[in-house]
Amino acid sequence: MKLAHRVQSLTSSPTLAITSKAKQLKKDGVDVVSFGAGEPDFDTPEHIKEAAVKAISEGFTKYTPSTGTPQLKAAIVEKFRKDNNLHYDSSQIVVSNGAKHSLYSILQIICDKDDEIIIPMPYWVSYPQMVKVAQGKPVFIQGEEKNKFKITPEQLEKAIKKKTKAVIINSPSNPTGCVYTKEELKQIAKIATDYGIYVISDEIYEKLIYDKAEHVSIASLDEKMYPLTFTVNGLSKAYSMTGWRIGYLAGPKEAVSKISNLQDHSTSCPNSIAQAAAVAALSGGDDCINIMKKEFVKRRDYIVDRINAIEGLSVVKPEGAFYVFCNISKTGLDSLEFAQRLLDEAQVAVIPGIGFGQSEYIRLSFATSTEQIEKGLDRISEWVKNLN
Ligand SMILES: Cc1ncc(COP(=O)(O)O)c(C=O)c1O
Repeated sequence: MKLAHRVQSLTSSPTLAITSKAKQLKKDGVDVVSFGAGEPDFDTPEHIKEAAVKAISEGFTKYTPSTGTPQLKAAIVEKFRKDNNLHYDSSQIVVSNGAKHSLYSILQIICDKDDEIIIPMPYWVSYPQMVKVAQGKPVFIQGEEKNKFKITPEQLEKAIKKKTKAVIINSPSNPTGCVYTKEELKQIAKIATDYGIYVISDEIYEKLIYDKAEHVSIASLDEKMYPLTFTVNGLSKAYSMTGWRIGYLAGPKEAVSKISNLQDHSTSCPNSIAQAAAVAALSGGDDCINIMKKEFVKRRDYIVDRINAIEGLSVVKPEGAFYVFCNISKTGLDSLEFAQRLLDEAQVAVIPGIGFGQSEYIRLSFATSTEQIEKGLDRISEWVKNLN
């Protein structure tokens, strides 16, 4: 029996092979240092866990409305107002099983066959695959390293064709940590609104932002942009809640009601207990985030200085998220070979850039302890020195 055409080109993550090998080695007792983590290494804050325990004790364990509880939607509406100067009605919000799920649903409801979705490169691994499952066509624009991997309005305009439906903007970015400025977003908004295409704004790393960088939600920039934007966010990264699976989106009413129907018939609702915990997270203030942020800044500065001191490697200092995207082109190895050999020969796991569309880079996460980061960089430094 033949499987559906639209899943034929669906691939598993090319990064998975390295991470599962690293895990196996660790299990076998090998002292592997892993820079692979896509999640904070901190525990979920206590007040959030307590809210979940309370929800269980009180029997809040049944189906909820499919797009989320009124309490959580109200907390999200308030979050958008307070943090992003965005004014949404609760009917414009859908709570989902993670930001990934929200992105998936948006693409399902906007794509017709062969509709084009513009994706800046380097991109988060799942975007192109999600577009393909929705029967759309990913169209890539290369963000140049000299422009901190960000695309320019000229590049965007050039890529827009008759079939273009949307562009995905991810700021702060995974894998580069780059952050678009207000001015840059205004220019992107101008092009998007001139051509009438959607912007899917993935703001999952919004709270993990450093130095003077400022997070701006593109939907807040002008009245014409607002009805063409899907703003996506979630609890995973800011509150160290990756396993709880709560994300959300906000967007134009008509589109959101279709996503709501889709959720009715696919997932029924997000987990009730995790939703109760999410209310506590969103209404509990940012203190718990700031503790994590302080640690991330220290680690980022350390990792950037150490890598830039290694001959043959270089990184642009990220302004957000918890990754550095390291240029390895001078080593003469492509990203897969680099990552495989580094793991085999020096027991350090990194993510090959090819998964993000860039074979001359590797991604290192600094969501791991300073001690591990130091040890890993000692090994990388020694290994690169001895490369021939
Ligand atoms: C850029 C980006 N968007 C979305 C997600 C998905 O997050 P969630 O755990 O909310 O599904 C991730 C997670 O790695 C991410 O890096």
